[in-house]
Amino acid sequence: MTEFTTTQTGAPVASDAHSLTAGPDGATVLHDRYLVEKLAQFNRERIPERIVHAKGGGAFGEFVVTDDVSQYTKAAVFQPGAKSEMLLRFSSVAGEQGSPDTWRDVRGYSLKFYTTEGNYDIVGNNTPVFFIRDAIKFPDFIHSQKRLPGSGLRDADMQWDFWTLSPESAHQVTYLMGDRGLPKSWRTMNGYGSHTYQWINAAGERFWVQYHFVSRQGDLYLSNDEAEAIAGADADYYRRDLHEAIERGEFPTWDVYVQVMPYEEAKTYRFNPFDLTKTWSKQDYPRIKVGHYTLNRNPQNFFAEIEQAAFSPANTVPGVDISPDKMLMARVFSYPDAQRYRVGTNYNQLPVNAPHAAPVHNYSQDGAQRHTFNHPDVPVYAPNSFGGPVADPARAGEGGWESDGALTRAAATLHAEDDDFGQAGTLYREVFDDAARARFLETLTGQGDAITVDAIRERFFQYWTNVDKQLGARLRAEVGVEASAA
Ligand code: HEM
Repeated sequence: MTEFTTTQTGAPVASDAHSLTAGPDGATVLHDRYLVEKLAQFNRERIPERIVHAKGGGAFGEFVVTDDVSQYTKAAVFQPGAKSEMLLRFSSVAGEQGSPDTWRDVRGYSLKFYTTEGNYDIVGNNTPVFFIRDAIKFPDFIHSQKRLPGSGLRDADMQWDFWTLSPESAHQVTYLMGDRGLPKSWRTMNGYGSHTYQWINAAGERFWVQYHFVSRQGDLYLSNDEAEAIAGADADYYRRDLHEAIERGEFPTWDVYVQVMPYEEAKTYRFNPFDLTKTWSKQDYPRIKVGHYTLNRNPQNFFAEIEQAAFSPANTVPGVDISPDKMLMARVFSYPDAQRYRVGTNYNQLPVNAPHAAPVHNYSQDGAQRHTFNHPDVPVYAPNSFGGPVADPARAGEGGWESDGALTRAAATLHAEDDDFGQAGTLYREVFDDAARARFLETLTGQGDAITVDAIRERFFQYWTNVDKQLGARLRAEVGVEASAA
């Protein structure tokens, strides 16, 4: 049977091709309800793009726990043998929706696990650290990476001005200018939770954890030249690669590991574990295997399932919690706030965001576009005498941490080996090999050449001298050479 085109309210329409007019060449009439509805609906197709991480893509899959970490967390999603449906969205940070995938950038790595205890999100990156350690600098940082207000252009002076005036950025900038800044594909990069999170076991004991997601496809990257050519030829290179691999039945897999720190050791560890610019040494806290996940299903509708997906570090479940990381504490406010604006008040009722395996019981009601609601017999307030949902008193002591001071605005406590440049120097000297160091120097030379303000260029040399003396000297010798020779 032929399926007829209908209006939004289900009535069949007379034509897909011709508006209603007064005679074949006459005026279009306003009472062509289908024409008016179609144009009006079209004008409302866009929602605001994410303020950061606007360009991305993702797929659904399954997380399987293969090892036993129940001594550290009681979370159902991490119990031996547990299987959870999941969504993973990859993204670039600074570019807009249509920007080329292969511009040098940190890549976002957002996980949503649809667990039996509610949705658990880990919203991380392909690097284990970040550019800043206090959320109050985040809007400034992002402004410096986006576009000049006048010309609408991106600007090396603005980027390097912010970075060199914010020395805590050195570790992450070393990752960004190294191979991690240009992954070969989303499938071939590792992910990190980046922050220190908290795990709580069945006995109520707390641990600090860092998440590592290691790609079984390898950790591969593009050269500057390859990335530049691809940016011109195929702006959606990463999105296409993931989509096509899954369509071919080549399902990418990542192994899930955690580093676990006993609660008390946070006070004395040589780096402050709540400083997002620092990693924990794998010698001090070896990786412990948890399980793996595999992406095996492309979205059926990119807008409904990826664009409207709302990930948030605030989405935690029993057995996991946040930590006193000053970035993380602000992120748990920022994401739901952004999503109420970007997607709408009841964004968590959309199928991609609603829990699959856990019921929702609470006293929120109404708001734009609500379509799920409590049974009319459920009271609309708490406390009540009529059997409405009640909070679980057993959870009262969960999460949190011991706090040890009056309200203040100060830098976090420096631990024995905390400084801004130390771990960046270690990354450059001990993790990069000779070839990676050569690529890094080439990239930084290009970056230095793009700076037009002398004072910023001088700070650029100083910044990299602080990371590594020889590196600073090499840059001082090489930056500007091509320009002056030309
Ligand atoms: C205090 C610092 C930060 C603030 C205020 C912040 C804020 C935001 C906001 C408002 C969004 C858009 C959310 C949406 O519209 O759905 C976003 C997206 C994102 N952020 Fe952050 N962010 C911060 C730091 C970080 C850090 C440290 C990471 C990684 C470790 C990160 C990773 C991401 C990712 C991956 C997305 C994209 C989420 C998605 O795939 O939908 N952000 N951020």
